[in-house]
Amino acid sequence: MNECQTYPSPFRKHKQGTQPDHLHAGYVSSMKRAPLQPLVTITPTLSELTGPLFGRDEIVAGECNMTRSANGGEAQGQRIAVSGRLLDEGGAPIRNTLLEVWQANAAGRYLHKWDQHDAPLDPNFSGEGHVLTDDLGRYSFVTVQPGSYPWGNHHNAWRPAHIHFSVFGPAVCTRLVTQMYFPGDPLLPFDPIYNCTADSAARERLISRFDWNTTIPQSTLGFVFDIHLRGRYATPMEEGHDDH
Ligand SMILES: [Fe+2]
Repeated sequence: MNECQTYPSPFRKHKQGTQPDHLHAGYVSSMKRAPLQPLVTITPTLSELTGPLFGRDEIVAGECNMTRSANGGEAQGQRIAVSGRLLDEGGAPIRNTLLEVWQANAAGRYLHKWDQHDAPLDPNFSGEGHVLTDDLGRYSFVTVQPGSYPWGNHHNAWRPAHIHFSVFGPAVCTRLVTQMYFPGDPLLPFDPIYNCTADSAARERLISRFDWNTTIPQSTLGFVFDIHLRGRYATPMEEGHDDH
């Protein structure tokens, strides 16, 4: 997280297949953007490493509730609580770190001009949230179960339900992005993005687990998703820009 290397990846030392391939034939847009030349290390400037900061003082540590709009309206869909820990290779917590999440609504539609597929928007759901990890590296947020959605990768292509995560280091260039999936999703075996990570054990670390301990009676299902930044249990991270 303290490095600022665009290429080669800070994950280059990981076991082969445990991070997404730059070029994955089934993920059509990766064919256009995957680098064809040897990777080049970009040395960060001092200003890139020292700023800007992300205004953590303006973010209140604790829960983020995405199911309530600013005007008090309630989002449609199955409420879920997602929680977990942000950890390094030794299992030590990574504290006071900004996580951003974004997702489709319960109908599988993003609040974004590029998403015009035939599913309803929810006026009470923006699909965006942010939260800080605490002293034990823990985070939690409440949202609604995202819907699956169609995309243009190939005929009858559908993304499995997922939540995008961004983990910010101390500067703009120290950002890691991944996607969290849900257990038992029938679309997972067919998803080119999920399958960009060749190693099956690493790939399965992208799937959250259902958790009774964080399930709230009469209200909210609990899912746990831990993020490991390095080491043998490292969470696969996307390097390229992901539109989906
Ligand atoms: Fe997405």
